[in-house]
Parts: sequence; C-alpha cells; structure tokens
Amino acid sequence: MRPVVALVPAAGRGVRLGETTPKAFVPVGGTPMVRLAVDGLIASGAVHRVVVVVPAELVDVASTLLSTTSLTGGSMPPVPVQVVAGGAERTDSVRAGIAAAPDAGHFLVHDAARALTPPELIARVAAELHAGSPAVVPALPVVDTVKSVDDTGVVTGTPDRAHLRAIQTPQGFGAELLRRAYATEVGATDDAGLVERLGTAVRTVPGDPLAFKITTPLDLRLAEALLADGAASDRAGRSSDTTTAAEQAVLR
Ligand code: CTP
Ligand code: MG
Repeated sequence: MRPVVALVPAAGRGVRLGETTPKAFVPVGGTPMVRLAVDGLIASGAVHRVVVVVPAELVDVASTLLSTTSLTGGSMPPVPVQVVAGGAERTDSVRAGIAAAPDAGHFLVHDAARALTPPELIARVAAELHAGSPAVVPALPVVDTVKSVDDTGVVTGTPDRAHLRAIQTPQGFGAELLRRAYATEVGATDDAGLVERLGTAVRTVPGDPLAFKITTPLDLRLAEALLADGAASDRAGRSSDTTTAAEQAVLR
C-alpha cells in the first residue's frame, strides 16, 4: 500500500492572533501548536509519514522541535517527520508539501492551528478514505444563522442552515486527485474547495468541536483552558516536556 502522508501547513504568520511568533510556533499549554498537531496525527495511528510546512527561517527550529523520539507514539513504529519551507499563501504551503511527497497514496491535509484535534477524528477521515471515498472532510452543523451580504453590508440572502456545515481539517484525498487540484493556480480557503472544482464528490464525516482552528486571542485562551482542564490532557501529557529551554529561547 502506498503511504498515507499527512501534510501540515504551519507557515502562516497568524495576523489575527497578533503574536510576534508565527502562529504555529505559539505555545499552548507550554507546547507549540505545530508540535501538538503533529503529535495528534501520529497518535491517530493513521499516517505513515508527516510533512510539516513552516516559514523558511524556521525550518531548522521546527526540525529540532519535531525530531524527538516521543513522536513514535508508544508501541507504534516511528513516523518520520520532514520539515519543508512554505510560501506566502496557504495554497503555496500545501503545494510545497505535496511536492515533498511524490510517493504518497493518500494525503491528509491538517492545519497546525487545529492543535487540539482528537486523534479519533483523524482516524475517522482516514477510514473513510480507505473505504473508497476520494475526498473526505470533517463537518459540524452551523449554530449561527449565516447570511450573504453585498459590498455595502446589505443582506442578499439567507441560506437554509440545515444544509450548511462548518468544515475542519484534516481533509483527506487520493494523492493523484489532490495533485490535480493543485495543478491550477486558482484560490480557495480549503483544499476540498479546489477538488470540488474538478467535479469530484467530497464526502463529509462528523467533525469535532475540539478540532476548532486557533485563530484569535479568544481561541488561544479557550485552547489553554481546555488543556488545563484536561479536555485534551492526553496531548498535553505526551508533549509538555518536549520543548527545551533552548527551543523556547529561539522561538521567543
Ligand atoms: N498556513 C500556511 N502558509 C500560509 C498561510 C497559512 O501554512 N502562507 C497555515 C497556517 O500556519 C495554519 C493553516 O494554514 O496552520 C490555517 O491558516 P490560518 O488559520 O489562516 O493561519 P494564519 O494564516 O497563520 O493566520 P492569519 O490568517 O490570521 O494570518
Ligand atoms: Mg490565514
């Protein structure tokens, strides 16, 4: 079987979070988000290899941060983690990750910013891929009413909420399909959006509230509180001792 490769876009600047450190390197419960995200992927037991895409100047820091042996996930075989440099837009970063994994049979594309994603969700997406779906996304019902507006802020429509979903990561794809989706230069806010343009059906699986994207200072406070409460304690326990003082100093 060709490998399942997890691509972790982690090269964003985190403008909305407002920290000086690029967002994926901001600690949650003492551990950088990118490390938490990679730990979750490995703990799922669903990936053979991980490619992490970071800002070019942080490739060495990230390689050190992600190289420790605790990434073997207990009894499971070691999962190699490779670090490559990303680009200006998320699509540029994902494209760099795809290029680093020519052998992949499936891709799981997973935002580093979804640092508390439960491994069970990751395994659910992978299982749906193995069951034959070419494209799989985690989805949650939308709680707010969503409206479209024009450029002046006037409401132009109210789609039926029953048919709306908030989409998370990891998003899973057959490798050839994702490569084809990324062969064009069009923009999209998620990877499935590019696949949809090819006319391929994208299947949803149930998402998880813990897979929320840490985007704003409020999200960061929520993530800190969840880790402190033990809601994602498994993750904190595995990782809390893995950032050395030297690494913290570099990241600061
Ligand atoms: N990402 C990336 N390369 C970019 C932009 C984003 O790898 N050029 C990654 C981010 O690191 C993050 C994921 O894509 O893990 C989702 O992006 P987002 O939450 O928007 O993160 P940022 O772009 O860093 O945040 P912001 O949009 O607030 O600047
Ligand atoms: Mg962004």
